[in-house]
Parts: sequence; structure tokens; C-alpha cells
Amino acid sequence: MSHEVFARSVTSKCSVVSTPLEGIAMDKEVIPGLEGVPIAESAISRVDGAAGKLEYRGVSVEQLADLGTFEETSWLLLYGELPTADELAAFTREMAGYRRLKYRVIDLIKCLPETGHPMDALQAAVAAIGMFYPTPRDLDDAAKKSACMRLIAKLPSVVAAFERIRRGDEHILPRTDLGHAANFLYMLTGDEPDVERTHVLDVCLILHADHTMNASTFAGRVVGSTLADPYCVVSSALGALSGPLHGGANETAMALFREIGSPENARPVIEKMIAEKAKIPGFGHRVYRTIDPRAKVLKTFAKSLADKSGNPECAIANEVEKVMAEHYGEKGIWPNVDLYSGIVYNELGIPAECFTPIFAISRVAGWLAHWLEQRIGNRIFRPTQKYVGKSDRSYTPMNQR
Ligand code: COA
Repeated sequence: MSHEVFARSVTSKCSVVSTPLEGIAMDKEVIPGLEGVPIAESAISRVDGAAGKLEYRGVSVEQLADLGTFEETSWLLLYGELPTADELAAFTREMAGYRRLKYRVIDLIKCLPETGHPMDALQAAVAAIGMFYPTPRDLDDAAKKSACMRLIAKLPSVVAAFERIRRGDEHILPRTDLGHAANFLYMLTGDEPDVERTHVLDVCLILHADHTMNASTFAGRVVGSTLADPYCVVSSALGALSGPLHGGANETAMALFREIGSPENARPVIEKMIAEKAKIPGFGHRVYRTIDPRAKVLKTFAKSLADKSGNPECAIANEVEKVMAEHYGEKGIWPNVDLYSGIVYNELGIPAECFTPIFAISRVAGWLAHWLEQRIGNRIFRPTQKYVGKSDRSYTPMNQR
């Protein structure tokens, strides 16, 4: 019996008391989805939802996408400043040294069902990786730094290994002479990517690296607040990211474009979905009331890649965007990051089930920056509830129910 069904059967037999327990005042309301409730002070990233702006440590993502790299962005998120040339070179070199997975982690990945979702494989592997690197109880700066570099470096290796192994290919060992983005594409495909493909993926990784107090980041901070180790923090954040209302939307958006099939078919399909009050993946956001700045950058890449390949998904997405603007523009529902990211990954030859894992191999940098921040002046998260269930019931013996 599912928990939902179970809860229904209990409440249907009894009257409900509305006396709140846990000492909370009667006038305190539950805020669904914690909308507008600040849960921490943070200096990592900032969204201006009305202006459509996103900054990491005060630097706009557009500038980072134009001029930076994912490694540089990771440093900025983790340490709060842009690195010097020497700091970046050392960080890049050191992190590349953490890419290789232990043979037993590869063996574990081989045991996972090939029909399983790569996000689940990633979550399982990250939890297992933590068992190989026990985290010292009194974490010093060096231990925190090596855990961060290990996690950022190893996530792409897990995603590439699971994807190759599940389709019957051998996994490919990482190379330390390639940058983070190029090495991932190399491990996934076996071919060293050209400069253009490398740049496109690098920009995607920069754009996804952090996004204030979203669901996966909050999940990670909650787990971090218990002083659980960073592998647990990242594996819980991965679970939160996998859902279709969060990171999983890039995969569901691509499934929708494929179902639509042609630009001409976009209007009838979307208008039918709107009439049925369905949520259209790749649109809407808790904070943005205009187009997500990341979607603007990704749309440019998607268009230039699709112009060359002739693939239809970008033209379909453009039509979907027009129909949505007519119906929902005034309501503030605009494209989010997931509308065009999958199209870009598809153009890079990446299978749809790997779209959300690519989001994850970038967002891990943000999760870890939040983990470090949470550890400063940490207090365990322990919110309260408004109890609406039964009270003071007597136990009915089994033979009398
Ligand atoms: N398609 C159609 N309607 C949408 C919509 C979408 N993608 N996103 C929001 N809406 C509508 C809701 O139906 C609701 O309408 P109502 O006021 O008539 O009830 C209103 O806009 C508010 O939406 P709500 O779901 O309450 O907002 P939220 O802040 O709780 O949720 C998202 C934000 C992102 C979860 C939501 O926009 C969504 O589900 N989007 C699709 C999935 C997606 O792309 N996720 C990736 C986010 S980066």
C-alpha cells in the first residue's frame, strides 16, 4: 500500500484535530513550497527574477560564459574570487588527477541494470564513492578542498562509464591533458572533441553551475546541516535534481519536441496541453518573471548548431516558445534553462537520458560551494509542521478492527 493511500485510509476513519503541536503559534501559516521564505544567508549566487539576471559571486553568467571556463567558474563558486593564473593552473591540474574511478566503482557500475536511469546510477555511484574516501570528523581546509575536487572530477567519469557500459562498450579512462568538458566528451564518445564542441559544452557547464536556493541545493544544504559527509550531500542533491519539475525537465522537454515532430505541429499540441492545464517542460520558474538568462545563451547555441545539422528540434522549440508567449507571456511564464539545453546536448550527440546527468556534473560545483557555506556557523535544519492529524487515540486490538 502506498503511503498516500495509507494516509487516506487512516484519515477517512477518524475525525481530524486541528490543534497544532510542537509549540508553534496558531497564526503561523504553512508556506507551500517555502515560496519566498529565506532559509539561509548566502553569498554564492544571485538571481534578479524581474530583470532576468544571474550572477555567481557578483559576476554575470553571460560574462563567465563569454570569457571563462568551467574550472574557473568552479573555483569562483567555491572560494568566492576569480583565481589567478597560477591558482587556476594548479586547480585544473590537481582536479584532473582525481578523474579516474577505482576499479571497484567500475565493477559496481557494471552491476547496475542497463535499463536504469543514469541519474539513479550517478546517485548510487556517488554514495558508494564516499565509502572509499572516509571523511575525517574534524574536516580541515585541505580535506574539504580534496573532497570538492574529487567529486567535481569524478561525476563526469561516472556518467560516461555508465552510459558506455550500459550500451555494451568498454569504459574509457580519463585523460589529464584535456579540460573538464573535453575530457567528458572524450570519455563518452572515445573521440577527442573539436574546439567548437568543447566550447559549447564548457559554456553549458558554466551556465548550470549554481542557481541560488533551488530544490537540489536546499536538499544538499539540509543534509550538510546534519554534518553528513559531502558524498551524502551530493547524492541527496542528485536525487532532488532528477525530478521532472527540476533538472529532469531538459529530458522531458526533448521528449515533447520529439512527440510534436515538426514545427507545424507545435501549435495544436501545445494549445491542447494548455487547454488540459498541463505543465509545459522548459517553461516557468519560481523566481524569473522574464526569460531565464541561461535560456538566451543556450538558444543562440541551439540555433547555430541546428542550422548546421538540419535537426528539427530547435525550430520546434521556437514555435513552442511563440505559442507559450501568446498564452502565458503576461502571466510571467517564460522559457527556463531546460528549454534549449537538451537541444544543445542532442546536437553534441549526447543521448537524452544523459541530459540531466550533464546538469548534475556542472551543478555539483554549486552544491559543494553551498556545503562549504553551510558548514560556517552551521545549525541543523529542523523546521516544524502544523499537525492536522488525530490525537489521544486508543489502540484497537487486531481482532476488533
Ligand atoms: N506550463 C504551463 N503552466 C505553467 C507552467 C508551465 N511550464 N509553469 C507554471 N505554470 C502555471 C501553473 O499552472 C500555475 O498556474 P495557476 O496560477 O493558474 O495555478 C502558475 O503558472 C504558477 O505555477 P506553479 O507551478 O505554482 O509555480 P512554481 O513556482 O511552484 O513551479 C516550476 C515552478 C518550475 C516547477 C513550474 O514552472 C513547472 O512545473 N515548470 C515545468 C517544469 C520545468 O521546466 N522545470 C524546470 C525548472 S528550471
